[in-house]
Amino acid sequence: MNNLQQLKTIIEEATTKIKSCLTFNELADVKAAYLGKKSVFAEMMQQMKDLQPEDRPAFGQKINEAKTEISDFIDSRRKEIESEMIRIKLEKESVDVSLPGKDIRQGAKHLISQVIEEVEDLFIGMGYSIEEGPEIESDLYNFEMLNLPKTHPARDMQDSLYITEDTLLRTHTSPVQVRTMLRHSAANEPIKIICPGKVYRKDDDDQTHSHQFTQIEALVVDESSSISDLKGTLLVLAKKLFGEERQIRLRPSYFPFTEPSVEVDVSCHKCNGAGCSMCKGSGWIEILGAGMVNNAVLEAAGYDTSRFQGFALGMGIERIAILKYGIDDIRAFYTNDMRFNRQFL
Ligand code: DAH
Repeated sequence: MNNLQQLKTIIEEATTKIKSCLTFNELADVKAAYLGKKSVFAEMMQQMKDLQPEDRPAFGQKINEAKTEISDFIDSRRKEIESEMIRIKLEKESVDVSLPGKDIRQGAKHLISQVIEEVEDLFIGMGYSIEEGPEIESDLYNFEMLNLPKTHPARDMQDSLYITEDTLLRTHTSPVQVRTMLRHSAANEPIKIICPGKVYRKDDDDQTHSHQFTQIEALVVDESSSISDLKGTLLVLAKKLFGEERQIRLRPSYFPFTEPSVEVDVSCHKCNGAGCSMCKGSGWIEILGAGMVNNAVLEAAGYDTSRFQGFALGMGIERIAILKYGIDDIRAFYTNDMRFNRQFL
């Protein structure tokens, strides 16, 4: 067999092997055998020295052409294997559109968040902005600067969870009032804010008590706001939460941070004031506390009380939601039972 015939045979042999390759690994083996360092071609190059010198370049060229041919063929086989693999993969992953779909469970916004947003919408519409503060608070901001010095008996109204002697879990959102006033008093800036957030009391958890609950506080400090502005605001709030027909009633009360202070009742939304089990027969339901900001509080925060005054109100969001939706156990808000949550989609 002369050299050219030998080359032809090698190419044919290689072609057959390449065609029968089914994986990249098999192809790599064939490639090594024909194009690698110890391939048949490498051996043939060794034999070159036996040729006449004038025949050597032509033979060398033939060898190179043969290698190129084999290499091209390997490349095209690689592409074939690749598309075959993709085809098999797609076949395996094909979707049976006749199978029943998975049940997608839609979540619901928590009722507490819904009520907070309802109150926020109302107040933002009246030009208030939202302020937040830390849940771990100092005794100074939570009590002292709100006119509740260390020995004040009214501290008893808010059983507190202390972390150190001077630090506690805030018992109400009112310290956010203090923090905001301290930021604005030096420049004599007015304030119009609401502060939503979690608060904590040392209560035993039962149907009506929770050691953690949610409040929203509102505070206005400026040179003109009067108790009639407070009354107007409370009426709008009551109507927004419990319906346009609602009326409010203010009863004198006591909070150290407001003077005068009031307890706000709303006419019962169940019986329209006639008296029912919801309002315990009185026609009225207590919903929140409010008042004109006590001068002692304004002064402690650095406001000149000969110019500035204002009003504040604070409400428990759970209480509003309980009344509004007839919920009979406060713990339902915290157990994350989807059967409860999904009722208020
Ligand atoms: N901080 C009071 C509480 O948690 C609620 C409250 C009452 C807030 C009257 C106020 C207010 O801003 O004016 O019991």
